Amino acid sequence: MARVTPISSAAGLKRHLFYQTSHSPALADLVGYEKAKEIIDFCFIANPYFPTPEMLQDLQKNLPSLIKSYPSSSPILSQQNLAAVLHVNPQNLIIGNGATELIVLINMILIDRIAVPIPTFGEYIEKLRDQSDAVLYAPDPAGRYELRLMDYLDWVHERKLKAVLVINPGNPTGQFISLEEMMDFIDRAGDMELVIVDESFIDFAGDPVPSLLPLADRFSNLLIVRSMSKHCGVPGLRLGYCYSGNLYLLNRLRGLIPTWNLNTLAQYFLSLLPATDAAYHEGRKRLIGDVRWLQGALQSISGLEVYPTGANFVMLKIKSGMTAAELQMRLLEEHQMYVRDCSNKLGMDNLHIRVASQGRERDARLVEALRALLQ
Ligand SMILES: Cc1ncc(COP(=O)(O)O)c(C=O)c1O
Repeated sequence: MARVTPISSAAGLKRHLFYQTSHSPALADLVGYEKAKEIIDFCFIANPYFPTPEMLQDLQKNLPSLIKSYPSSSPILSQQNLAAVLHVNPQNLIIGNGATELIVLINMILIDRIAVPIPTFGEYIEKLRDQSDAVLYAPDPAGRYELRLMDYLDWVHERKLKAVLVINPGNPTGQFISLEEMMDFIDRAGDMELVIVDESFIDFAGDPVPSLLPLADRFSNLLIVRSMSKHCGVPGLRLGYCYSGNLYLLNRLRGLIPTWNLNTLAQYFLSLLPATDAAYHEGRKRLIGDVRWLQGALQSISGLEVYPTGANFVMLKIKSGMTAAELQMRLLEEHQMYVRDCSNKLGMDNLHIRVASQGRERDARLVEALRALLQ
């Protein structure tokens, strides 16, 4: 591997950015576009095996004409391309400029008050009309923040809430809830107006994928949200979707989606999906294997507690006396590795980091760096 120069504040690490956002700053913002290429990003979560090199070449080849064209003003073709690989009805999909665009709209128009288990992906709280409309459910940190669905639902019922969120597998915990348990939960949540299940990481939870998608039409109050940044490895393209069997619910959202919300590169990427589906699933299964390996290797480091995961990332509790912020900074400055300090997530202490798998070889380097810093 090419030698890299260490990053230091003098070299321009913009530390103040960590205090300006509830998300993690992009690497290019932190250190500049050129330096960012030398750092391994374990912080943002994206499948390293997709798009394939051939797809990237194809996108590159078409970039000049795509940049100079307007995107389609109709979402139908993109919906059909996506529906072909998800095996669902295209009419029941809405594709967003990242799942975040859809979460903002869902929060704005479908939700009055909603139960949200924490820690969580912050947009589900921050983009509500009023943040106090999120009624927070905090599982016990001593019990590894484990969300027990039936306890959660009893709590929701006691408060007479009508909307409820579950992220499965959870972010940042990685906790996976089985399809059977999810079905049972949704059955028992039949009196809710809206059940949002965010399955952004479900493709890494097993094979076959234990998703609610094929069963979603049975539940008129169910809305599934998925980010393509994670499972398709394209955070920069900004793609995400939601699915519901309830067209009335979807049409309320559709009315607010801006024309041309998907850019030409994103639309072109979607057009490649049907022909590349086999490669996608090959990469997906390979990554599941990598995460299992990563989990096992991390367990061999005595200064860490490793959380169980069904996602393509692992949450870790530091037990060596170092804080998450200190460890993040030392990995960045001394090892050119970027991990997620979870301290700013609601409900979390300052001892947790989250690492996304970047494939076996890079993951092995992360394990060695953590061993060197913590043991
Ligand atoms: C659970 C979950 N849902 C949705 C998103 C939004 O992803 P994007 O807007 O990149 O599609 C994220 C991003 O981290 C997430 O963790």
